[in-house]
Amino acid sequence: MNHTAPRRLFVTTALPYANGNFHIGHIMEYIQADTWVRFQRMQGHEVHFVGADDAHGAPIMIAAEKAGITPQQFVANIAAGRKPYLDGFHIAFDNWHSTDGPENHQLAQDIYRALKANGLITTKTIEQFFDPEKQMFLPDRFIKGTCPKCNAKDQYGDSCESCGAVYAPTELKDPYSALSGATPVMKQSEHHFFALSDPRCAEFLQTWTHADGHLQPEVLNKIKEWFAKDAEGNGGLGDWDISRDAPYFGIEIPDAPGKYFYVWLDAPIGYLASLKNYFDKGGPKAACGETRSYDEFVADPATEQYHFIGKDITYFHTLFWPAMLHFSGRKTPNAVFVHGFLTVNNGEKMSKSRGTGLDPLKYLSLGMNPEWLRYYIAAKLNGKNEDVDFNSADFMARVNADLVGKFINIASRSAGFISKRFGGQLGAMSADGQALVATLAAEGTAIAACYDSRDYARALREVMLLADKVNAYVDQNKPWELAKKEGMDARLQDVCTTCLQAFRLLSLYLKPVLPALVARVEGFLAVTPMTFADAAATLAAGHVIGNYEHLMQRVDIKQLDALFEAPAQAEQATAATDTKAASKQKANPAAAQPATASADGQPGGEALAPTIGIDDFAKVDLRIAKIVNCEAVEGSTKLLRLTLDVGETDETGQPKTRNVFSGIASMYQPEQLVGLLTVMVANLAPRKMKFGISEGMVLAASHGDEKANPGIFVLTPWPGATPGMRIH
Ligand code: 2FM
Ligand code: ZN
Repeated sequence: MNHTAPRRLFVTTALPYANGNFHIGHIMEYIQADTWVRFQRMQGHEVHFVGADDAHGAPIMIAAEKAGITPQQFVANIAAGRKPYLDGFHIAFDNWHSTDGPENHQLAQDIYRALKANGLITTKTIEQFFDPEKQMFLPDRFIKGTCPKCNAKDQYGDSCESCGAVYAPTELKDPYSALSGATPVMKQSEHHFFALSDPRCAEFLQTWTHADGHLQPEVLNKIKEWFAKDAEGNGGLGDWDISRDAPYFGIEIPDAPGKYFYVWLDAPIGYLASLKNYFDKGGPKAACGETRSYDEFVADPATEQYHFIGKDITYFHTLFWPAMLHFSGRKTPNAVFVHGFLTVNNGEKMSKSRGTGLDPLKYLSLGMNPEWLRYYIAAKLNGKNEDVDFNSADFMARVNADLVGKFINIASRSAGFISKRFGGQLGAMSADGQALVATLAAEGTAIAACYDSRDYARALREVMLLADKVNAYVDQNKPWELAKKEGMDARLQDVCTTCLQAFRLLSLYLKPVLPALVARVEGFLAVTPMTFADAAATLAAGHVIGNYEHLMQRVDIKQLDALFEAPAQAEQATAATDTKAASKQKANPAAAQPATASADGQPGGEALAPTIGIDDFAKVDLRIAKIVNCEAVEGSTKLLRLTLDVGETDETGQPKTRNVFSGIASMYQPEQLVGLLTVMVANLAPRKMKFGISEGMVLAASHGDEKANPGIFVLTPWPGATPGMRIH
């Protein structure tokens, strides 16, 4: 499928502000980008996919102050909560960093100096809004008012969420301070500007934005409006105010005491900073043998740079960012991919600041399969910047009827016969089977092209049309009837082999969207990780597959009901009946299940144990343990076998691990736990169990009334803890 030399891609998603957890809008963007990255890797390309927290700015400074901690601590706390979302939805960034990292400070200052040397930094004394009650200049996000362009009310001071216009806060109509409600007064201050009005900038940006492939046509149309000047020569690109006065949480402007870069100056530079951090840690070398340094990699004209963003930040990414890169002597992006907003059940758009409606962690904690959401979102994304609506009924129909009904069913209707009747051995395909599989294989190039252009909706439509063809073949040949007929063994093996060959191809085509599921398919089909080049091949007759285990459940309407219920109702619904959803299906390890208090009002449903002294507590030796391996225990539906690294070594100095059985199989798939840190009782006497010796106990929380509040939750420590550390 891919006959060209591997390309080297650097891919980013917009850096989320570090003042809150991810909401579903972030997850949608990450699913879009992660799918593309996985696809490119399946084409044989080298991809470095990085993200970071957007740490700076006055809102974070103000939130930290309110919380009584430093902005650095505040940002670190938010960063520590990212993993459950990313792991939970199989979003595999190669690196996650922070715009407050040293790399970003250095790069931002370097870029600024280069722009200045190029004559593109100017200073000007401006009048700015000052809160007379709070005695500080008001950050843009803390001034609200009416949009000067479209008259939408309650818009922020830097840009309008309604029409996308970007403007100075002073242009707002009827401004007010969001900190105190006071009407702000004007006060003078010297500011630094990026001189975008310089003709060199306009000339460069006209060329860059119009160059083939950089922008989607609908995005370019929007940008043309921003370039346009009216009859009097007003409008067009204005200079960009890039400085803020202390107090500010940000990066100091060189040679300008008390002045900091506006957060939007250093935010996109954070893309480069995260990449640099990744290179400096040796990530690319370990991942794909990349031997070059960050500097060499980014300077290479062959390195391709792609940014996935939402349409509200188009202006920053298609004008300011390419200009900053170009005029500081750097390579510019190969493309900026803009997506629309996500709405939920035709509701309001998921705004950055008001993201509500579909809580990603709640989704996971209800035991909903992350790949249902990946599939659904992919099925709605067409590569344009159109809004996408999450609709419950549509979600259920697409997952249950298409994903499970059309795709998964192909395997479940054929694999059992191969295992039971033919010792797992595939047979040869006769002409009709070969023709069917050839039809599927022939679509590989077209499906790949859809992924490449981010038209996942079309890719999945094509895959489902192919699945229809396979299901028609199954219905025609009825393997369940062949199985009952005398003398039809060879045909049964032929038909079921054809189904599994077809299922393998469909799985390959779905792999960018459903990575965890297809990893299980590869396991059961006993094939190495598939790439698009494998679409041309088939499994040889005689190839032995593993045992088929059901790959995916259907969505239960109760889960959707609980997902969209107000929190109090959702707790009751979960506690009352939906134990199937909550505990039988696998949940995300770090996602908290809301628990109700028991009827007698005891915390967590059970009375506190009698008081102990510190000496009693000290007898229990609690240690940080790394789960280096985790497996299902054959013959037990309750237990998982954990291999734990508690930082111990044997007599010869070799690392030693412990074997611990834990009754958490109802909540976790083994692979979800591998690599996580947890807490164990390290001095518990070893216990002989039916399945072996357990050398300790892993700590997990559960409610006293497990029936009403199902779920058992493994403890994980705050980042920074390492195996062997004692818990005091
Ligand atoms: O709009 C936002 O959420 C910004 N934090 C996005 C920044 S993207 C990049 F420039 F860092
Ligand atoms: Zn507006």
